[in-house]
Amino acid sequence: MSLEKRVLSKYIPAHLAIILDGNGRWAKKHNLLRTLGHKKGAENLKNMALICNEIGVKVLSVYAFSTENWNRPASEVEYLMKLPREFEENYKGKFKENDIKVIFSGRRDRFSEENIDLLYRIEEKTKDRKGLILNVCFDYGSHTEIIEAVKQISVKYKNDDIKLDDIDTSLMEEHLYTKGLPPLDLLIRTSGELRISNYLLWQLAYSELYFTSKLWPEFNRKELLKALDNFQKRNRRYGGIKE
Ligand code: IPE
Ligand code: IPE
Ligand code: MG
Repeated sequence: MSLEKRVLSKYIPAHLAIILDGNGRWAKKHNLLRTLGHKKGAENLKNMALICNEIGVKVLSVYAFSTENWNRPASEVEYLMKLPREFEENYKGKFKENDIKVIFSGRRDRFSEENIDLLYRIEEKTKDRKGLILNVCFDYGSHTEIIEAVKQISVKYKNDDIKLDDIDTSLMEEHLYTKGLPPLDLLIRTSGELRISNYLLWQLAYSELYFTSKLWPEFNRKELLKALDNFQKRNRRYGGIKE
């Protein structure tokens, strides 16, 4: 049986996350500016969203800009901040055609007015779509996400809206950016780095992890199928015992 057929005949992750890393190294490898690596990376994100939609992934979360990426040179940050608009302009037609819904996870207080407005507009415009949910993690960091959740819960406790014993896993999850999304099945990181870099720390508790040395702009349909094939062979025990 072909790889494609085998993968499509088995369980497809409801929620897949990708740390799309290696744009800079891809550019260097091709003697291009880093910004061109990001451009290529954005195009690949569009391709991957369409593939995931087609094969039945429900939610694709992608790490597009971390709370630590502000530490990069100003010119690179400036370019990365232009990508949401460019992405919207180039791919809105394809996304509409394929009924893809877009949401954003992360802080919203450090962007330009224009970007804040754009993010809300994209979410509003796509909110009733029934295809893939593309969750773009932009100015996202797990530590911030968890701290924000703890603060919101603390206010509720202080105001007597909840009791101490109401604070449990499900209450925490209701205060995370991923509220309402299915549990994370699989995390893929491209570019050979073997770390999490402050991504989805809470959500990863029982996710499967897959690392590949492919750089993000090189991660194509075949590479995704290889990752899913590998995932489908895992034995997820959740601390229990299973054949
Ligand atoms: C990932 O590619 C994209 C972002 C972090 C915005 P990188 O820019 O980190 O690429 P490398 O790791 O330098 O190759
Ligand atoms: C993680 O990649 C963040 C994103 C992909 C957006 P980085 O390239 O920023 O991670 P480190 O610095 O190698 O850990
Ligand atoms: Mg990187």
